[in-house]
Amino acid sequence: MLQDKITQYTSEVSAFTTNNADELEQFRIRFLGTKGIIKDLFDAFKAVSPEEKRTLGKVLNEFKQLAEAKYAELKDSSSAVDTGKSADMDLTLPGEGFELGTRHPLALVRREIVEIFNKLGFVVAEGPEIEDDWHNFSALNFPEEHPARDMQDTFFIRKAKPGEDDGKGDIALRTHTSSVQVRMMESGKPPFRAIMPGRVYRNEAISARAHCFFHQVEGLYVDENVSFADLKQTLFYFVQELYGEGTKVRFRPSYFPFTEPSAEMDISCTICKGDGCQMCKQSGWVEILGCGMVDPNVLENCGIDSNKYSGFAFGMGIERIANLKFEIKDLRLFSENDVRFLKQYKSALI
Ligand code: PHE
Repeated sequence: MLQDKITQYTSEVSAFTTNNADELEQFRIRFLGTKGIIKDLFDAFKAVSPEEKRTLGKVLNEFKQLAEAKYAELKDSSSAVDTGKSADMDLTLPGEGFELGTRHPLALVRREIVEIFNKLGFVVAEGPEIEDDWHNFSALNFPEEHPARDMQDTFFIRKAKPGEDDGKGDIALRTHTSSVQVRMMESGKPPFRAIMPGRVYRNEAISARAHCFFHQVEGLYVDENVSFADLKQTLFYFVQELYGEGTKVRFRPSYFPFTEPSAEMDISCTICKGDGCQMCKQSGWVEILGCGMVDPNVLENCGIDSNKYSGFAFGMGIERIANLKFEIKDLRLFSENDVRFLKQYKSALI
């Protein structure tokens, strides 16, 4: 009788399988628990005759080992696979995944500009966005009360009161990155070869073509015997690298208080390659930056001997450069943080 029961339970245990932790626990309690089947079988074993004990003892021990081994094996696999909640979980559903962020188009373009100038030996310099009048205007040769100051509509933060300021004048949000030129020249010795990327602010009504803040990259090169030819070649190289070989450049005379002579640089339209389109207003040319030879007054204001040293400077808007690269026509898109817009640029430049 006992022998039959063991045979029956042996086949039950051998056939048993599960990956459900609850079912496995039921199995353990039923066979291996303190009031389980194996305990009962050993109790019953005490009553059998001594002759039977010899064979049955072996069979009973083997069954016990089988049940224990089965439990150990299923425990290993079930805990990894399932926590007993399989009814609530459909493991065949696709995962949720997560989207990687993308770089902002302005960050991509800034980085490309920086990389090109790095190759020419320009380092990156930065300065504060809240500036004083001296660094944003006076040192750059904008005379007091001169109409040239109106070229840039300034956001003032604090008007200087006579006798109360430190001699550096009104505090304002910088209107251009040229202020960083001044800071660099004041605090070091020539030669200087740097580009200065940063955010600038102007008090303008926000529209598709104007914004109250935008980004510039300023460039400054000061050394002995720097000439306009160096300026032209540097910017020509930059444009070939940025927009491709064969992009033409032209310089038009212009005016900035801090450069003399001054120029604006146009390039052949990157969209129509000079044939005429909406972007270049059918002219084949688009303006991308202002530049010139650093005015000797600016060098002297920064404590640099203008008889010994000369230099060139240039400044460009990053939004403008990005516009010509990606045809982003509305400036407001850059600061609205619309992910549908931003994620288009993930593979444009890595
Ligand atoms: N600072 C000028 C601007 O914001 C650009 C410029 C920089 C022009 C350096 C000449 C030299 O328009």
